[in-house]
Amino acid sequence: MRLQFIVILFLFVGSCGLKQPSLEVVSLTVEGRENFPGIEEKQPLLSWEIRSSSRATEQTAYQVLVSSSGEKLADNQADLWDSGKINTDSSIHVAYKGVALESYQRCYWKVRVWTNHGDSVWSAVHHWQMAMLHPEDWKAQWIGLDTFSAGDRPYDQDTRLAARYLRKEATIEKEIQAATAYISGLGLYECYINGEKVGNDVLTPTLTDYDKRVPYNAYDVTDRLKKGANAIGVILGNGRFFGMRDFHGNPNPMTGSRQVTYGFPRLLLQIRVEYRDGSVEYIHSDGSWKVTDQGPIRANNEYDGEEYDATLEFAEWDTPGFDDRTWKAVDLMDAPKGVLYSQPNENIKIKETLVPKEVYATNRGTYMVDMGQNMVGWLKINLKGNAGDTIKLVFAERMKNRDTLYTENLRYARATDTYVMKGEGTEQWHPIFTYHGFRYVEVFGLSTPPTVADFEGQVVYDDVQTIGDFTSSNETLNQIFKNAYWTIRSNYRGIPTDCPQRDERVAWLGDRIMSSYGESFIFDNSRLYAKWMDDIQVAQNENGSLPDVVPAYWIVHNDNVTYPSAYIIIPEMLRKQFADEATYRKHYPGMKKWMNYMWDTYSTDDLVLKDVYGDWCVAPEEGTDVIWTNDPKRTTDGGLVAASYYYYCLTLMKNFASLQGMDEDAAYFDTRAQRVRSAFNKRFFHSDSLYYGNNTTTANLLPLTFGMVEAENRDAVFNRILEKTAEYGNHIHTGIMGAMWYMRGLSDHGRPDLAYTVATQKTYPSWGYMIENGATTIWELWNGNTGHPLMNSWNHQMLLGDLLIWYYEYLAGIKSDPGQTGFKGVVMHPIFPEGLEYVNASYRSIYGMIKSHWRKENQTLRWQITIPPNATARVSLPANTEKAIKEGGVPLGEVPEIRLLDKDDRQVWVEIGSGDYDFVVADVKWGE
Ligand code: BGC
Repeated sequence: MRLQFIVILFLFVGSCGLKQPSLEVVSLTVEGRENFPGIEEKQPLLSWEIRSSSRATEQTAYQVLVSSSGEKLADNQADLWDSGKINTDSSIHVAYKGVALESYQRCYWKVRVWTNHGDSVWSAVHHWQMAMLHPEDWKAQWIGLDTFSAGDRPYDQDTRLAARYLRKEATIEKEIQAATAYISGLGLYECYINGEKVGNDVLTPTLTDYDKRVPYNAYDVTDRLKKGANAIGVILGNGRFFGMRDFHGNPNPMTGSRQVTYGFPRLLLQIRVEYRDGSVEYIHSDGSWKVTDQGPIRANNEYDGEEYDATLEFAEWDTPGFDDRTWKAVDLMDAPKGVLYSQPNENIKIKETLVPKEVYATNRGTYMVDMGQNMVGWLKINLKGNAGDTIKLVFAERMKNRDTLYTENLRYARATDTYVMKGEGTEQWHPIFTYHGFRYVEVFGLSTPPTVADFEGQVVYDDVQTIGDFTSSNETLNQIFKNAYWTIRSNYRGIPTDCPQRDERVAWLGDRIMSSYGESFIFDNSRLYAKWMDDIQVAQNENGSLPDVVPAYWIVHNDNVTYPSAYIIIPEMLRKQFADEATYRKHYPGMKKWMNYMWDTYSTDDLVLKDVYGDWCVAPEEGTDVIWTNDPKRTTDGGLVAASYYYYCLTLMKNFASLQGMDEDAAYFDTRAQRVRSAFNKRFFHSDSLYYGNNTTTANLLPLTFGMVEAENRDAVFNRILEKTAEYGNHIHTGIMGAMWYMRGLSDHGRPDLAYTVATQKTYPSWGYMIENGATTIWELWNGNTGHPLMNSWNHQMLLGDLLIWYYEYLAGIKSDPGQTGFKGVVMHPIFPEGLEYVNASYRSIYGMIKSHWRKENQTLRWQITIPPNATARVSLPANTEKAIKEGGVPLGEVPEIRLLDKDDRQVWVEIGSGDYDFVVADVKWGE
């Protein structure tokens, strides 16, 4: 009887959930990468994420242990670093401070975290490996094939070159402990060991200016090699190294830009094999390798596509024993001029696969594949045919009519893959050295009608994590978000490309000044942009001048303020969103050089007016096929745009200087800023009619946003913006330089409702107009459906302006506290526009998941919030008294984790720690 009672009591207590609070440490990263074998930083930055079921969890201390082997770490023998117990809340970007790390060093690590709740926990074990830290570590030689063959077309619009296949066999006689491969294959490589691909990245390595920087990748290949005979095979594609176009240094007649090409593809490969007996051996590229260009990839070119002849396949060429007698000895190639470095940013991967929406026969005897989504990558085919049948795939973003592709906007990019069948059952194939921006594919050369199962769209882009999600009650907002999501991922290829389909695909600095910030709410783009800042740094001229396209595959050096200002503005985004303190510090000298160069070379009367692009791409009204407006009433003086951006950069420079304790520099930038501000107002402000320049929205918005307008004129200047917005029927009417601030400008000055109206328009010009006209991505032109094809990408993110920032910071109310960085403090202050019933948004910050789910229920607001451990939030609740607010059904004042901060007649500000919260606010006066 007693026993029964105890059992029942036990079961009862168990089911009542008297659970121990859980605490975990997860997502351990080193320099932002998990278990990465290519770390080059000698004091890498370690980060971890805390998960806890208790509210208001804060880290009070950590201890990091780093060991040279897993066994030692299991024994808590930290022979590389024992940080000791450090009393701090720092849990991200903690610098390794142990024994100096050497090339190839393997580091196993774990971290223990203590919290304010008195509990503590160890993480699981993670590891990283150091890359090659000294140039002399390289024993490998650059190899390749230094000639053209028949069928190659060296110079022209569509340069052709067959892929190079290189191979080498190596016998391993001892037991293998571990092996790491270090590879740079330029332009692009795929590496195979004993018939299996190394890693699952594609289109490797990342893109750089090879005269300046040469990336290599590190892969753990312990499982690929074996005792006995081994074979290594590498295929080299052209990428940007053997450029897609070559006009011998003359400008491309089509674009007017000079384009860079570096020569024949080449390979540098070194495999370090560590044996169980402690000895080490290297297998590396040298003159003993064999090469052929007579393999199946007959041509490969990022603009034009890949040509593959399956009848030329050589089976098992990457396994031991293959007869390579017809192959040639490799040529030793010159090393590229750039400095070799281990690539820290993510490589490209196949991130998603799509089944076609429809496959149908055209009236021309071809078949059309409609992916239902404008995407970037390639089409994998799965087809039967006779040996020698040629399947041709032509890619396009849009259709002229149901039977005809619209390819005019691809300009000279042929965007065509061909596959010659070998006639052996079902053949599966996709290209490896090209990619296309497409929704539609026309298939030529099929003898039997295909079905959707015969094709698969493979979506390829940088292997960055998706960290943000957004849905709301407004379908237009949701579809714009989806289109933005697709557009951003479509253009991440180690550089942020402008477009993925036409004969351009380069990274224009101006396009990303602000959109990089909006993108950072959806993707962890921290390493991509940190890498791009490095690319910009090495592209800077001796005198400080910066180009407009980086890497400089197109040479566009025409000094202007706005485009290169990305070099100052993006590091601020990285600091704010990702707590990246390293990037602005590293680039500070280069930024300062550029600021001074522009000032010394171009300033007159305290203004830097040097401009080229103006307020790029204002929607035209003067004709449906016009690309941008030339209407002087609608365009803004480029000098005004330049001078105001220069001022904004001065304010950022002042801040960067202060953050580094460089008081003299800070004062210097501040003084210059004051001079610019007064010169700007003198020159551009019309004190009689209270507007700037020619009274466009951009002319008024930039000085207003950058804090250049005298306090007494601010309302009047904002009213000018309202008047213009009304004149254009509450539609977006700026170019990209104004659009970077427009949604926030309207909201910050008291008109979030108007921002909402502009954001949800469906008529021209608007993001909704694109959707009404079938867009599944964001267009380059507001009139993309009718605009001239000369510059008319359907997958171009720049027109997003600050829209995504506005989605998160204003609609969802998820914003990094300006007083802190990386969402350690979150400001949650959503707007609740009339007509919008709910928003469900999440954002995975470096501290962990933040959620804001709000819903209007008549006069009540229900708002569910999640804040990750080791972060806090200041939350604005729309009530004039805390009595109107409950959390989890409990009156606000009775919830211990909630601290009242402030209140006025519109809002109650509270501070919360980590955890899930469920707020209900009664009697909300929406729209007040
Ligand atoms: C690019 C733009 C860029 C512009 C500047 C275009 O071809 O696609 O995004 O800003 O050129 O001239």
